[in-house]
Amino acid sequence: MKYIKHLFVVICLSIVSLVKADEGMWLPLLLEKMNEKHMKSLGMKMSAKDIYSINSGSLKDAIVSFNGGCTGEVISSKGLILTNHHCGFDAIQNHSTLERNYIRDGFWAANHGEEIPNKGMFVTFIIRIEDVTKQALNGVTPVMTESERQSTIDKNINEIRKTAKKESYQDGFVRGFFEGNQYYMFITETYRDIRLVGAPPSSIGNFGKDTDNWMWPRHTGDFSMFRIYANKENKPSEYAEDNIPYTPKKSLNISLDGVAEGDFTMVFGFPGRTTQYLQSAAVEQIMTVNDPAKIAIREKALAVIDGYMRSDEQIKIQYAAKYAGIQNSYKKWQGEVLGLTSTNALGKKKTYEAEFQKRVNGNPQWKAQYGTLLGDLEAAYGEIKPYGYARDYYLEITSKIELFTIAGWVNSVSAAALKDGEKAFTQRRDQARNVLEGLFGEYNSEVDVKLFETLIEMYVKDQDQKYQSPFLRKLLSENGNDINKVATKLYEETILHDAKKTMQLLNGTMEDVMAFAKKDKAIQLYTDLVATYSNEVSKKLNEVQARINKLNRTYMQAQMDVFKEKTFYPDANSTLRVTYGKVKGYNPRDAVKYDYYTYLDGVMDKYVPGDYEFDVPEKIQTLYKNKDYGQYGTNGKMPVCFIAQNHTTGGNSGSPALDAYGNLVGLNFDRVWEGTMSDINYDPSICRNIMVDIRYVLFIVDKYAGASQLIKEMKLVHPKRK
Ligand code: ARG
Ligand code: GLU
Repeated sequence: MKYIKHLFVVICLSIVSLVKADEGMWLPLLLEKMNEKHMKSLGMKMSAKDIYSINSGSLKDAIVSFNGGCTGEVISSKGLILTNHHCGFDAIQNHSTLERNYIRDGFWAANHGEEIPNKGMFVTFIIRIEDVTKQALNGVTPVMTESERQSTIDKNINEIRKTAKKESYQDGFVRGFFEGNQYYMFITETYRDIRLVGAPPSSIGNFGKDTDNWMWPRHTGDFSMFRIYANKENKPSEYAEDNIPYTPKKSLNISLDGVAEGDFTMVFGFPGRTTQYLQSAAVEQIMTVNDPAKIAIREKALAVIDGYMRSDEQIKIQYAAKYAGIQNSYKKWQGEVLGLTSTNALGKKKTYEAEFQKRVNGNPQWKAQYGTLLGDLEAAYGEIKPYGYARDYYLEITSKIELFTIAGWVNSVSAAALKDGEKAFTQRRDQARNVLEGLFGEYNSEVDVKLFETLIEMYVKDQDQKYQSPFLRKLLSENGNDINKVATKLYEETILHDAKKTMQLLNGTMEDVMAFAKKDKAIQLYTDLVATYSNEVSKKLNEVQARINKLNRTYMQAQMDVFKEKTFYPDANSTLRVTYGKVKGYNPRDAVKYDYYTYLDGVMDKYVPGDYEFDVPEKIQTLYKNKDYGQYGTNGKMPVCFIAQNHTTGGNSGSPALDAYGNLVGLNFDRVWEGTMSDINYDPSICRNIMVDIRYVLFIVDKYAGASQLIKEMKLVHPKRK
C-alpha cells in the first residue's frame, strides 16, 4: 500500500513536471500572474514584485542590456557592472597593443582615474514595461496586406511613443510579441559613458577557447567589469571627463554560499532570438539546408584566418574578436543540428501538428479559420527554400570578405553625393571614416585576399548560376576561370584594401570620390553582387517571407486557441526576460552522467603549458598549490562553473544567475553542447545553461588580480548561514 501510494506521488509529480517543464523566457511584468506560484514551488523565496516593480527599486533596476548584444548587472552602489569577458572583449581588444596586451595579460584599473572610456559603448536600463497591444493594432484588419498592416502599426507605434509618459532623458520602443499578436512598450534609460574597470587574461576569461566553447564540463572565468558614469545629476550623458560614477537604484547582493543540486535559480537578461513555434518544414530546412550551408562557409573562412593568426602575433590580436564571433555561431549550428536530430525534434513537431490538426478538424469554426494553415505553411517554406539558401550564401560570403564592406562604404559616400549633394556627402563621409578607421585597425589585406579566393570559389561552385553576379562571371571568364588570378588582379587594381590610401581618398573632394567609385573594379563587383542578390533573390524572398509571417501569426494564435491547457511564452526578441529552473546535472547519452559543478582542479587537469587554449597563468597555479582561496573556496576546493535548467539563448551572456532570494550566485555565459537546439526545441532533460560561479569571479578579482578595492564596493552576503 505504502509502495502504491509512493508510486502515485511520483507519477503525479512527473505529470506536473511534464506540464510545467522549466522551459520559457517570461516577461517580467507578467510573472505575478503567470509564474510566481510555480517559481515558489521550485523554491523561490521572494515575490514577483521583488523582481519587477515600477515603483520601488526591484531587481530589474540592476539589470542592463549591455552594448546591444549582451546583458550586464550592477554590483555596487558606485555603478560597477559585471558582464562576460566575451561581451567586453571588443573593448579589451581595442585598448590592446603588442606592448600593452590586455587580451593576453588582463587589465585592472587601480582607481577611477585609470578606468578606460569606450567610444560608442552603452548600457540600457528598462524603466517600465506596458502592454500596448490594443493601441498598436488599432485600425488593423484581417484583409490588409502585410505592408499595409505594418505601416498602420508603425504609425500607431509612433503615436504611442510620442504620447508615452517619460522624462526627457528617457526613451521608449515598442516591440511585437507572439508573431505580432501582442505589443509591449519599454521605457528605457541609456548611459553612454561606460569605462573598462577590469578583465582577466584570456587564459582565464576565455580558458578552453573554441575547443571548450558550447561544452560542459567547463572551466572558464568568462567575466569582465565596467563602470557606468553619469553627469552631475546622476543622469545619462555622453562621455565627459568630469562625469561621475553612477549611483544605481538597485545593485545586486552577492552570495558567498554557492548553490547545491536542486536549488532554485533564475536568469534575468536580454535573450536575443528563438523560434520555438516553427512548423516542421521550417525546422527541417534549418537542419538540412541553412545550418549546413552556413557551417560549410564558415569552416573555410575560419581555416584561412586561423592559419594567419597562429603564425603572426599582430594578426592574432587584430582578428581575435572576429574569429571568435565567426567560430561561435559555426560551432553552435553544428550542435543545433545534432541536438535536433538526437531529440527527434522533427518527429515531435509532426506529432504536435497531427494533434493540432485533429483538434482543428473537430471544431467547425477552427476548421474554417485554421484548417489549411499547416499545409499553407509547408507550401510556403517549400517555395522559400532555394532563396533562403542563396541568401545564406550571399550574406555569409560578402560579410566575410571585408573588401566588400569597404567598397560598400565608399560607394555609399559617392551615392549620397550623387543623390543629395555636398551636405549629404560630408555627413556620410564622416560616418564612413569612422567605421573604416575601426575596420582597418583589425584588417590585413593578405588575409582578405585569401578569404576572397576561398569563399568566392564556394559562391561560384555551390550556387545556382541564376543567383550569381554576371560581373563576377565576366571577370572569371576573362581570366580563364582562375579565381586566384581574379583576386590578385582585383586587389592590385583597387586601393580599397589599403588603409592609408582609402582614408586619403575620403579626405579628398566629393568629385574625387565620385570619380573613383565610378571606375573602381572592387566597387563595380560589389554593386553587381548587391544588385544581383536584390533582383534575383531578395525580392522573391521578401515576398514569400511576408506570406510566411502572416501565416505564422495566425498559426501562433491558433496554437493558443487550440492548446488551451498549454502556457505559452513569447519567443525571445532581445527584450528583458526571466527564466528559471533548478541546478541540475544531466545524462547526455547512455552511461554518461554529468555533474553540475566544476572546480579549479579541473582547470589544472586541462592545463597544457604554453598552449593557445589551455594555458594557465602561473599565479593561478600557485594559488591552487597553496589552496589559497580565501573566503571564496568551499571544503578546500575552488568552485569554477555550474549548470542549471534555465532556458537561455544568445544575448543572455553576462546575465546574472540569482538564487531564491535574488542574490547573485553566478554569471551566465553559455549552454551545453547537447542542448544548443533549445532555441528551436527545448528539452528539459538535456538543455542546461552554463554559469561561472560568482565566487570564482571574486577569487580572480581579489586573490589573482589583487583588486580588493573592487571587492570593498560590493555587498557580500551569506544567505545559507543561519
Ligand atoms: N558560446 C558562448 C556564446 O554564445 C560564448 C562565446 C564566447 N567564447 C568563445 N570561445 N568564442 O556567446
Ligand atoms: N554565449 C551566449 C551569448 O553571447 C550565451 C549563451 C547562449 O547562447 O546560450 O549570449
